[in-house]
Amino acid sequence: MAFVKVAETTDVTAGYGLLVERDGRTLAVFNAGGKFYACSAVCPHEDGPLADGWIEGNAVVCPWHGFDFELTSGRCLVDAELSIATYPVRVNGTAIEVDLP
Ligand code: FES
Repeated sequence: MAFVKVAETTDVTAGYGLLVERDGRTLAVFNAGGKFYACSAVCPHEDGPLADGWIEGNAVVCPWHGFDFELTSGRCLVDAELSIATYPVRVNGTAIEVDLP
């Protein structure tokens, strides 16, 4: 496990996400009012593009069918059987760094 830079803080619009690729992984990084989160980029419902979703409260809403997922736990708030991977994030200066497993 190691924190790696995936984007600059200015790359991610507040309330929205950014698709990033790093070390062979594709992630979605979100800016929730200046606090950043990282999670899997693919919605487990029907493979929707989570990075194209938006933030409501502490959850990302999938743009395809509106399922929402907590950015801290990955838990789906619509279907308890669904979840997404989430990754620790830190901001180092202007760099968004994600702890990839
Ligand atoms: S594909 Fe994400 S809610 Fe359906």
